[in-house]
Amino acid sequence: MNVKPEIVLIGGGGHCHSVLDVIELEDKYNIKGIIDNNLPLNHNVLDYKVIGKDIDIPELAKDHVYFLITVGQIKSYSIRLKLAEFLKTHECKLASVVSPRAYISKYAKIGVGTVVLHNAFVNANVKIGDHCIINTGADIEHDSIIGDFCHISTGAIVNGDCIIEDGCFLGSNSTISNGKIIIKNSVIGAGNFYK
Ligand SMILES: CC(C)(COP(=O)(O)OP(=O)(O)OC[C@H]1O[C@@H](n2cnc3c(N)ncnc32)[C@H](O)[C@@H]1OP(=O)(O)O)[C@@H](O)C(=O)NCCC(=O)NCCS
Repeated sequence: MNVKPEIVLIGGGGHCHSVLDVIELEDKYNIKGIIDNNLPLNHNVLDYKVIGKDIDIPELAKDHVYFLITVGQIKSYSIRLKLAEFLKTHECKLASVVSPRAYISKYAKIGVGTVVLHNAFVNANVKIGDHCIINTGADIEHDSIIGDFCHISTGAIVNGDCIIEDGCFLGSNSTISNGKIIIKNSVIGAGNFYK
C-alpha cells in the first residue's frame, strides 16, 4: 500500500487557506494539521485543526512529517526566515508543493519549502529558490532566477532573463521587464511596471 507522507503547515492565515487547496488537489500528502502561535488548539482552519504552536515542531519532527511554512509574506519575510532557521536547526523535512494546475517546464527547477499555486506558469530554464511563494497566476518567464524567500504575488509577471534576488516581494499584477535585476529585499508595489 502506498501511504502518503504527512505534512504540517506552519501559519493558519489566508495564505494557508490557498495552500491547503493546492495540497488537496496535488494529493501527495496527508495534511496532519496546522501549527499557529496565535490560534487556539483545535481551532478549525478550513477542514483542518490547529495541532500546536512553534515549540511543538521538534516533537512533530520525530514522526518524520514534512513541514511547509504557510505564514504569508507582504514586504518582510522575517517571520518566514526565522521559522526556516528553526526547522533547519531541528533537521525537519521540508515539502515543496506544486499545484497540478500550474505549468512547470521540465527545464525549470524549484527549491525546497517553495509553493507554486494554481495557474502559475514557470517557463523553461527558470530557477526558483527555497521558501518562495509563486502565487496564483504568476508568470515566471524563461531563464529567470528567483532567489530564496521571494513572494511573486498573484498575477505578477517576471519576464525572461531576470534575476530576482533573495527576499523580494513583487506585488500583485506587477511586471518586471526582461533582463532586469531586482536587488535583495526589494518591494515592488502592486500593479507597478519595473522597466
Ligand atoms: C507597496 C506596498 C507594499 C506599500 O504599502 P505600505 O507600506 O502600507 O505603504 P502605504 O500604503 O502607506 O503607501 C506609501 C506610499 O506609497 C504609495 N504606494 C503604495 N502602493 C503603491 C503602488 N502599488 N504603486 C505605487 N505607489 C504606491 C502610496 O501612494 C504612498 O505614497 P505617499 O507617501 O506619496 O502618500 C503596498 O501598497 C502594496 O503594493 N502591497 C502589495 C499588495 C499585494 O500585491 N498583495 C498581494 C498578495 S498575493
